[in-house]
Amino acid sequence: MILVVGAKGMLGQDLLQSLAGEVRGVDIDDIDITSLESVQRVLLTLKPRVVINAAAYTDVDGCESKQELAMQVNGEGVAHLAMISKDIGAKLVQVSTDYIFDGCKGSPYLEDDPINPLSVYGESKLSGEMNASLNPDHLVVRTQWLYGLHGKNFVETMLRLAKEKDELAVVDDQIGSPTWTMALCHAIKTLIERDCRGTYHAVNSGSCSWNAFAQAIFAEAGVKVKVTPMATTDLGRPAARPLYSVLDCGKLKHDTGLQLEGWREALQNYLRLRVQGL
Ligand SMILES: NC(=O)c1ccc[n+]([C@@H]2O[C@H](COP(=O)([O-])OP(=O)(O)OC[C@H]3O[C@@H](n4cnc5c(N)ncnc54)[C@H](OP(=O)(O)O)[C@@H]3O)[C@@H](O)[C@H]2O)c1
Repeated sequence: MILVVGAKGMLGQDLLQSLAGEVRGVDIDDIDITSLESVQRVLLTLKPRVVINAAAYTDVDGCESKQELAMQVNGEGVAHLAMISKDIGAKLVQVSTDYIFDGCKGSPYLEDDPINPLSVYGESKLSGEMNASLNPDHLVVRTQWLYGLHGKNFVETMLRLAKEKDELAVVDDQIGSPTWTMALCHAIKTLIERDCRGTYHAVNSGSCSWNAFAQAIFAEAGVKVKVTPMATTDLGRPAARPLYSVLDCGKLKHDTGLQLEGWREALQNYLRLRVQGL
């Protein structure tokens, strides 16, 4: 059985759907990953063969003022999952982020490129990556700019704001790859099926700025709103973000044959599903 930890989150809910059959989900009501006893109790009872950790403290700006909580959930929580999954002979899949890079490379990041997080969130997720290796059978899957049907995300925020305003200023100096949670689920499923180990990047292909992504969302959804450019510095967010954090997915393709669809195609598919679901 595959156990999804953080099963009520945006990614967690899609993991449950895409792994349907041999999967179970737990979230904060059933397991607190910051407690070794809680992790022990759940994993020793359920005895999964794979543990996917989609639980995290994901408020990037909130992490700046709640450093201790960020490290407890995103760092120590992963150590607990790694130790106990190792004890029961299970694989650990840890979901990580492009925010472990500083964004200064200027070309797509490879898995073994130097890391240099700019934020507390990035530091805490890096600590989680390192702690995942307490289980030799671990997989770290780095992704970015996620959106999906079951959580707060950029696509939903843009569509909501477009109902309230005729003009929106959107950052145009951060470049990344918008990624549909369902595409990431497909990559995670494939990596597990192939019994891959180590670190992999998994994002939808291609890249753009948040501004270009917003324009694509409105074009695909048939929404008329003027999108103007703004600089990251003008946003004045507490946490610094990498300006260019595109992830190279060549290793995923080389080892599994999988290349995730282009970000615009994924967006079209997401919006189609979203309309059907409403
Ligand atoms: N969203 C993105 O753009 C993005 C980009 C790159 C990487 N990631 C990574 O992808 C993963 C999934 O992200 P997501 O956006 O799906 O996150 P999410 O929607 O915030 O879901 C995280 C889940 O973890 C739960 N949780 C928090 N603390 C916990 C604890 N101590 N024990 C057990 N469960 C706990 C949360 O419960 P509460 O809601 O009750 O706190 C929530 O249900 C995370 O590892 C994140 O770092 C996300």
